[in-house]
Amino acid sequence: MDRPRRRPIGIFDSGLGGLTVVRAVSERLAGEDIVYLGDTARVPYGSKSADTVVRYSRMSARFLLGRDVKMLLVACNTASAFALDTLRAEVPVPVLGAVEPGAQEAVAATRVGEVGVIGTLGTVRSGSYPRAIGALDPRVRVAQLACPLLVPLVEEGWLSGDGDGPEARAARAIAEKYLGELHARAPELDVIVLGCTHYPLVRPLLARIAAQMWRHEVRLVDSAQAMARAAEQALGDGGLLDASATPGRLACSVTDDARFGEVAARFLGHDLATVEKVDL
Ligand code: DGL
Repeated sequence: MDRPRRRPIGIFDSGLGGLTVVRAVSERLAGEDIVYLGDTARVPYGSKSADTVVRYSRMSARFLLGRDVKMLLVACNTASAFALDTLRAEVPVPVLGAVEPGAQEAVAATRVGEVGVIGTLGTVRSGSYPRAIGALDPRVRVAQLACPLLVPLVEEGWLSGDGDGPEARAARAIAEKYLGELHARAPELDVIVLGCTHYPLVRPLLARIAAQMWRHEVRLVDSAQAMARAAEQALGDGGLLDASATPGRLACSVTDDARFGEVAARFLGHDLATVEKVDL
């Protein structure tokens, strides 16, 4: 057996939102085993300080290294924003975050040279997306906006904004408020990076409202999809791709298992058979 290739990919997040990355990775790399850790006991990371997020991220990385992973994916945008450099310096396997792949796609996609980034308070405050975009092309202007209410909205499952019920009206109002603010700051932009694990689930709603507001085409970059593509590339470059025909397995651990099943299925797209509760 080709041992290094057969080792799993480790993916961690502050909670269950990172299952959007698991979904994107397993759709793209069907033969890969994945070990997922959701730090559900301490979610959210988005409103916490850099020091705390770095400390928590180190603990998650240590847990996954104990599971013999061949690569570490930091699904959480906030953890990517604050802890990626630390983890890269300390961890003996390749480490990939959400910010660089999202920034690369945004720079490649913009025609007018203006990009919007939405994410948690921490991700926005870190300045990591403007830095990554500026490093790729200093001419691209970046408008950022923290959208903290989108995380609980998605966790409640108020996703589509269709219809006249209170959930749909609340979802529309929140999305309109945030995108309206972004529009006021960046009326020319033609790309918005969804810089948070949760936002792919409200993508259709955001796309609809963005189309009404900007009145020109606005491309939404999904950082989970961008990460999955980057992981495929990095594994290929490192000779670590598992091309076996056997479908990969998913092992899922969480630090707290209250309210797990329904929310996990929403992010993952299907039910999870088993989940292990762990202490870090
Ligand atoms: N996973 C976080 C992120 O992508 C969102 C949830 C949280 O605040 O922890 O930034």
